[in-house]
Amino acid sequence: MYLAKNNMRGRCLVMRKILAIVASNNKKSRTKEVTNQIICDIKASGSGFTCELVHLSDYNISECDGCQSCFIKGFCKICEDDMKIIIDKLNSSDIVIWACPSYLDNVPGCFKKLLDRMAHFTHTMDFSGKLAFVIITTSNSGSEEIRRYLFKIFPYMGFKMIDCYKFIGREKSNSKYINNVSENIIHSIKMCYGFSNIDLEKKFNMYKELYFKNNKRDREDLYEVNYWNQKNVRQSKNFQEFAHMIRNNRSNY
Ligand SMILES: Cc1cc2nc3c(=O)[nH]c(=O)nc-3n(C[C@H](O)[C@H](O)[C@H](O)COP(=O)(O)O)c2cc1C
Repeated sequence: MYLAKNNMRGRCLVMRKILAIVASNNKKSRTKEVTNQIICDIKASGSGFTCELVHLSDYNISECDGCQSCFIKGFCKICEDDMKIIIDKLNSSDIVIWACPSYLDNVPGCFKKLLDRMAHFTHTMDFSGKLAFVIITTSNSGSEEIRRYLFKIFPYMGFKMIDCYKFIGREKSNSKYINNVSENIIHSIKMCYGFSNIDLEKKFNMYKELYFKNNKRDREDLYEVNYWNQKNVRQSKNFQEFAHMIRNNRSNY
């Protein structure tokens, strides 16, 4: 368990739960192998984190049908799959490790399916107050394209991106390298100060401005406008405050 330092109102935050999501359909996934080793290292380190690994191949995620009801009404009407289980796991975690292989220099389809279903969170920064790491395995290509893509979209969901670790080719998957990555993750969490950075502050201000100006839209049911105009959201002076507010609300569920 780690108490994240926080310069606001003298509070300390308990950062204890790590969720690793392995986005590969391969039952004998190399990405899972690597991620599992990292999780085992973190558990064995005595740092006090609780860790869970989710392999997407064990879950049924339906494809987004493009209706946009999530953006307009704030919820997805597809409910007969395992999406809620994944979102609940994300909500109850403090730190997320996103792990995926490179397929044609991009994320695999099972990951894209999940990300499309999470698209509305990019308009509401729902995962504010969480740290994220990325692990990418490849034979030789695509890791930088994937890193850039994931580091672009996840901050819009509120994640504070900490680091990316690339496992290119087999030779990098040796236990010494994996060990270094695990130690690095623990160290980075301990050194991380708060949930914010300049990029997140800019995005937060951009959304507040955008939706405040659009407050007079005649579509009363527009979920996002209502969301950004809630009193407690408007009262957050900056992203750091907003992230704390969201964390507190989550623990009230
Ligand atoms: C459909 C498919 C496409 C792939 N495309 C690439 C690629 O573009 N570049 C690359 O370096 N490796 C590619 N690979 C290799 C995988 O990225 C690599 O073996 C990875 O570690 C597999 O992880 P997994 O077993 O968790 O799925 C591909 C593998 C598959 C199955």
